[in-house]
Amino acid sequence: MKANLSTRFFGLELKSPVIAASSSMTGNPEQIRKIAEAGAGAIVLKSIFEEEIYQAMQEELSLRDELHNDPEYLDYFDYVIKEDNLRKYVKLITDTKAAVSVPVIASISCTTSSEWVLFAKKLQEAGADGIELNLFIVPSDCNRSSDFHEHFYFETVTKVLESVTIPVSVKISHYFSNLAGMARKLSQTGIAGITVFNRFFAPDIDVENERIVAADVLSSENEYLLPLRWTGILSGKIDCDLAGTTGIHSAETALKFLLAGASAVQVASVLYEKGPEAITEINNGIENWMNEKGYHSIVDFKGKLNLMNAKNAVAFERVQFMKYFGEKAF
Ligand SMILES: Cc1cc2nc3c(=O)[nH]c(=O)nc-3n(C[C@H](O)[C@H](O)[C@H](O)COP(=O)(O)O)c2cc1C
Repeated sequence: MKANLSTRFFGLELKSPVIAASSSMTGNPEQIRKIAEAGAGAIVLKSIFEEEIYQAMQEELSLRDELHNDPEYLDYFDYVIKEDNLRKYVKLITDTKAAVSVPVIASISCTTSSEWVLFAKKLQEAGADGIELNLFIVPSDCNRSSDFHEHFYFETVTKVLESVTIPVSVKISHYFSNLAGMARKLSQTGIAGITVFNRFFAPDIDVENERIVAADVLSSENEYLLPLRWTGILSGKIDCDLAGTTGIHSAETALKFLLAGASAVQVASVLYEKGPEAITEINNGIENWMNEKGYHSIVDFKGKLNLMNAKNAVAFERVQFMKYFGEKAF
């Protein structure tokens, strides 16, 4: 029997576990059509960014003259800019829905739980099959407690869940003091899935010019180990589905995530490097491996090597190299 690649993520049946992650690649319906044709199980659209809306407001404010410096005018621009961003995003959803038959997931990227997350309802009305929340705050303020930061996640998720009926999933970072506990608590809010871990803009340092610069925008193929470890740890312990992202560039890496307990993987960088065919290649690789191993469906091996099932699963929790150094006689 031929291997069946279907899986469940975002609370939806997907024909493949390979999902096109949110990026500028998924901000254009024509490009999205090619990605869907290449075999993506779902498309997560480029995010609508809270920060972008805020930035547009700042630009508008810097352009206008003193005469308009009154709160009513400010409110007006706040409203117009939000509406404009939203209108463009709604069009992206409707155009994409017309272009592809796979699930289309809208993405909201937010750093505050302000009232605008309620726009989620408009994204549902536009036809989105689900919503992914890209939640991130850099916990850099020493005066704030972890509770303070975590509150933002629960408040945002609760507000969005209250305003829509389509599945909501969350893409998180690893910046939590109690990651496993936090993931479990989030999974109990009613969300359909958690994706580990988002890869954000990272600062680097140019030593020649003594300047802070942007690190590589695209991931490299050896960046998958951190999300892989946490997929293995969280799989089977949280009350919603799990997906992996960051550094997944090949079928082999995708299979590692499935074996560690992910229901799906999200890819972005490899789409920039190889184009939509990268998804066909990963799907073919997964299918060939399943055929060789005699697996008929993803659930036959999903989580086989997670913290609960693998013989040497303790490796997921191990952090020191002591034994290795001992054996190698360092
Ligand atoms: C150019 C680029 C743009 C991205 N834009 C978004 C975005 O709008 N929203 C979001 O949640 N993630 C965004 N991401 C993150 C990806 O969705 C993904 O989580 C991350 O890149 C890790 O996957 P990868 O290693 O396959 O690139 C972007 C990534 C790249 C490379």
